[in-house]
Amino acid sequence: MVLAPVHLFSHGSTMMLGEPSEAADYWKKAGDEALANGVKGIVMMGAHWDAPHDRIEVATNPKPAKSPVAYVHPSKYADYPLNPDLPTANRCINLLKKNGFEAGGNDTFDWIHDTYLIIIRMFPDPATCPPTTLISMNARFDPHYHVKVGAALRPLREEGYLLIGSGGAVHNLYRNYWLPMLRYSDNFAQVTPPEPWALEFRQAVEDVLTHNRGPALRRAATRLMKHAQYRDAHATDDHFMAVLFVAGAVGDEADEKEEGGRLTAETWELTNMCNSQFTFGNWQAVKA
Ligand SMILES: [Fe+2]
Repeated sequence: MVLAPVHLFSHGSTMMLGEPSEAADYWKKAGDEALANGVKGIVMMGAHWDAPHDRIEVATNPKPAKSPVAYVHPSKYADYPLNPDLPTANRCINLLKKNGFEAGGNDTFDWIHDTYLIIIRMFPDPATCPPTTLISMNARFDPHYHVKVGAALRPLREEGYLLIGSGGAVHNLYRNYWLPMLRYSDNFAQVTPPEPWALEFRQAVEDVLTHNRGPALRRAATRLMKHAQYRDAHATDDHFMAVLFVAGAVGDEADEKEEGGRLTAETWELTNMCNSQFTFGNWQAVKA
């Protein structure tokens, strides 16, 4: 079985769109590798869109606008043409329904920076941007539900679709130190070191994602929501769902033999926000 890799990207603050960083360099590298290997499309779950009740939604707006972002000059994103993939969106809806989800399209959804920030950084030349499908979260933020979403869409990897979860490893907006960004537009100031709870949870995420494979990875990822520092690291659950989506996409029994998760880049922002980037598998496996 050959499978496209899966990325777990921590998108951080809006300024990660406009400012150079180690993470942004890796996003570009991941985009270059995807293009070099004939990526068929991008299927992404972000952290800023959740569907109510039991629903999950797939973006079917043929001409989505972009929600504006603060602290980034509009020239860095406003004119970038988005490339929504409606045929794949409908396939995702059907795959989700087949797996028991109450899934449907949303033809009025406008894209938010959690997803288009990553797209623009991966494919700075819009002419190269692959067709892209966005999947919502569910607003109950049940970890097992989101693992199952990743599992349901995992077969798309066999066709060369690149699945991406865009969230955050340590992402608690209430515990960030915003002053250097607000006063000096410096999101990387790090006037003091990250606090112990942030360092501890960041390490737990790395350990879980790099030391487990297959169903054990899914279990360990869901268990992170019971970690003693989880609520310090994630005041709200929205930026953690990408971890579970990715664990679902790479945590099948058949994935136990695949290359495990690798921490590929990391950028701290605003003292306590840790933007860790992980990749599971590789394109070489697809070529082989
Ligand atoms: Fe975000």
